[in-house]
This record gives sequence, structure tokens and C-alpha cells, in this order.
Amino acid sequence: MDIILSGIRPTGHLHLGNYFGAVQNFIELQNAHKCFFFIADYHSLTTHPDSGDLKERVKNVIVEYLAAGLDPEKAVLYVQSDVEEVAELYLLLNMFAYKGELERTASFKDKARMHPNNINAGLLTYPVLMAADVLIHRATKVPVGKDQEQHLEMARNFAKRFNNFYGVKFFPEPEAYNFGRPLVKVPGLEGSGKMGKSDNNGIFLYEDEKSIRKKVMRAVTDSGPTQINQEMSEPVKNIFSLMKLVSTPDTVDFFTEKFNNMTIRYGDLKKQLAEDIIQFVKPIREKIISLSSDDVYINKVLKAGAEKAKISAQETVKEVRDIIGFMNNTK
Ligand code: ADP
Ligand code: TRP
Repeated sequence: MDIILSGIRPTGHLHLGNYFGAVQNFIELQNAHKCFFFIADYHSLTTHPDSGDLKERVKNVIVEYLAAGLDPEKAVLYVQSDVEEVAELYLLLNMFAYKGELERTASFKDKARMHPNNINAGLLTYPVLMAADVLIHRATKVPVGKDQEQHLEMARNFAKRFNNFYGVKFFPEPEAYNFGRPLVKVPGLEGSGKMGKSDNNGIFLYEDEKSIRKKVMRAVTDSGPTQINQEMSEPVKNIFSLMKLVSTPDTVDFFTEKFNNMTIRYGDLKKQLAEDIIQFVKPIREKIISLSSDDVYINKVLKAGAEKAKISAQETVKEVRDIIGFMNNTK
């Protein structure tokens, strides 16, 4: 059986891009596999040493993922720092990670360029901590985007080196998981590129009706079709792509037809899109609001998740300690 695991950095709010990208995959996976999903709060310290609002950020993330459909009865949901065993495995895996390869990691080079005054060892060893996250549950599949593939390859290397050095077949080699289908790319509202965290470009699941309408009505289009059955420009295609995600097929057909016979009014198209996005996010938004004020429930979910994650983590660490040959004097 596959063990699935993914980590979520506690930065920002969930937008439609995250929802149709990562979250829907998680929801599909939790129904069929043993899944671990956690909030990577240790990781967030590498670039956010000022952790003043950390609790709030972690709470927001868990609230939004629960509202979007992650189910604590199906998947193990926890906060990374609740499972200290990860820190021990990270220390041990550091012995199998070489300075040169860490320095060559694309994410390290990017972050070092962006934060030249804070190139800390945690940043350099980010991939080792990520490998510890995955290997602590001996996960086999990791649903992540392209930007994480290099980190996963490094996790495979650390796992292999550990296995070879101690002559064991202990750690499986985790692979990126993408359902064998292309990842959904949700476009933004600026006419090109993908939806991201930036306020001009992203529509967030927590957003109210007014704000969604305002953003969608400002979305970039063009000056309108000038020929029957003309090819759509990228900004218009993007509006239709968003519509395909949230509207009924009839609505999409109705506006496609209007585009093709040149009777389309982009104002009407956007109005419809805004209303359909509002309807789509409404139940999620309502859940976000109710969960945000239910600290008792959130704490219960995270405590139960941490307990389950710790059982699995402790098993791995115990075996790793035995393999390495520690004295284990207190055990
Ligand atoms: P952001 O674009 O807000 O910085 P992150 O990099 O935090 O998003 O991504 C979190 C997850 O959401 C990743 O798995 C990423 O692949 C997915 N994701 C983010 N934006 C999109 C998008 N526009 N379309 C599809 N998936 C996305
Ligand atoms: N590095 C991932 C990101 O930036 C987050 C993450 C941390 C992660 N640990 C992980 C993802 C383990 C998958 C598996 O999005």
C-alpha cells in the first residue's frame, strides 16, 4: 500500500489555484490511501525567523484546509513541530547530505539571493528536513508541484545512502505523485500566468462577495472578437478556463457560443463568472468562518493528528536508532 505525504508551508491564504491544484488532489487521495498531511512550521523558520504570528498562520492554514475538505477522520493532519522525532531524523540524515549538493539546490540559491543577510544553515539544509518529513513515515508517494522535484530527488539520495551505508533496505525511495495526468494550472486574473498569492491575481477561498466581484470585474480581457469562430486571446481563454472550473457546462457553452458569433459582452461574462465563483466558494467560506472561532475543535483535530503521527514517527526513529547502533540506555 502506498503511503502518501505532503507538507504545506504556513504562508498566506488558500486561493483557487491551490484549491484546484493541490487541495483537490489531497481530497481524492485521502479517500483511497493512508495519507499524512502536515503544516511545515519548522520549515517556515528558515525564511521567517520572526515567528511572532506563527500560531495564527498555522491556525489559518489548518482551518482553510479543513474547510476545503481535508478530513481528519481519513488523513492524519498534524503540525510538524508537534512531532519532534522529525528533528532527530533530520539530524541523522544530515550525515548523509553533502555541502556541495545542498549549495547547488535551486531553492537554496534562490532564497540565498533573496535574503543575502540571512543565509542560515537551516536554509541550506531545508531539503534534509523535507527528507526527514517524508522518511519519518516511510512515505512512498509525495503529491507536489514541479518546484519540489529536486528536493524529492535529494530525499531519495539520502534514503539510498543510509540504506547502503548500513546495508539495510529500510527507507523506501519516495516519488513525486501526479496522478499520471497533467497538473491543473489555474490562471490568474492579470491576463497571463498562473493564479498565485498576489492580491491582484488570486481569488481566495475566504473572500467575501464584494471583493470577489470587484476582482473578477477588473480581470484583463481584450477588445472583443472581430471574426466568427476566432481564436481566443490568452486573457479571454483564461476567463473561460476559470469558468470551466466553477460554472455549469451549459453556462460555458452559452458564452462560448456568444464569443464565436461575436455577440459576447465581456461585462456579462465576468458578472456570471463572479457569481459562479461566489457560489462555489460560499460553503467553504462559511466553514472557514465557523471553524476560525472553534479553537476547541481545531486543537482536538491537531492533537489527535499529532498523536497518530508520533506513533508512526517513533516507530521509524526506534528502528533507525537500532540500525545505527546507539546504546539506547534509557530504553
Ligand atoms: P502560491 O502560488 O500561492 O505561491 P504555493 O507555491 O504555496 O502557491 O503552492 C501551494 C500548492 O498549490 C502547490 O502544490 C502548487 O502546485 C499549488 N498551486 C499554486 N498555484 C496554483 C495554480 N495557479 N494552479 C494549480 N496549482 C497551483
Ligand atoms: N517544501 C514544500 C513547499 O515548499 C513543503 C514541504 C515541507 C513538503 N516538507 C515537505 C512537501 C514534505 C512535501 C513533503 O511547498
